[in-house]
Amino acid sequence: MADPFQNVDAAGPEFIKAFADAMDVRQSDPTMERIVAAYLGRLEFPPDSLTVEIGAGAGAVSRRIAAHAAPAQVTGFEPSEGFVAEARARAADHANLSFEQADGTALPLEDGAAQNVILHTVLTHVTDPGALLTEAARILRPGGRLVVGDVDFSKATFANAPNDPLDVCAREFARSYVTDAHLVGKLRSLIAATGLELEHFGMDSRVVTTPDQMRPWVEFTTRDMVTAGLIGEDMARALMAEHDRRAEAGTLYGYQAFATAVARKT
Ligand SMILES: C[S@@+](CC[C@H](N)C(=O)[O-])C[C@H]1O[C@@H](n2cnc3c(N)ncnc32)[C@H](O)[C@@H]1O
Repeated sequence: MADPFQNVDAAGPEFIKAFADAMDVRQSDPTMERIVAAYLGRLEFPPDSLTVEIGAGAGAVSRRIAAHAAPAQVTGFEPSEGFVAEARARAADHANLSFEQADGTALPLEDGAAQNVILHTVLTHVTDPGALLTEAARILRPGGRLVVGDVDFSKATFANAPNDPLDVCAREFARSYVTDAHLVGKLRSLIAATGLELEHFGMDSRVVTTPDQMRPWVEFTTRDMVTAGLIGEDMARALMAEHDRRAEAGTLYGYQAFATAVARKT
């Protein structure tokens, strides 16, 4: 199956609602909150400035950015009409935040319009990450900054033992919900090609041990494997039961390596 994040509207309203909720849950994770707070701390938000999130989804990260940036303006651009509708509904109480439907390769902004541009778990879902980075560099003002935060999905795992059967769900996610699981390894050279100056490149470990964070992904991937005919219903139920057993026993373990790159336009 092709990565549904390449064309979210084609994936349908059930997908949009489920992943809008999943992105909100992910942003509520203390590790993710720490990662976002750390990169926001590297940026400047003059009161009359604009910060842009490209690929804003349903706005989980945009809302966090807007809370930090206020009174400066934040705009989330997102190609999916369904996600834009969700994002607007979920951000009603943020006066400095708006959302517009646009592809990250063609943003309706003048050159140099933005103080900051943020791409949070977007570049792993596109076929031409260089095109989004070139557009990000175009809309940045001199002295402005780009943040790219993304998961090294090639290293993501649910395993806490050799040949752990639950790990198949992590590998299925990287295969079916990600376009380039190795994007993070290419990130520094992709940013260098835009002419922006890399100020920071670092990795954080994100360890997921709670059922609210991990269960949706086990559920999505087991259901997809049944639909694809890879496993039967009994195996899907067994994987869910194993997830629930570990949640009960306190042995759930999901691991992600999360990259943050910050680059400045000179
Ligand atoms: C995993 S979601 C992340 C959403 C949001 N940044 C967050 O972290 O909550 C990936 C997003 O990238 C968007 N996307 C995919 N292709 C894109 C493109 N060419 N330009 C801009 N966004 C794109 C998808 O529509 C989706 O909303």
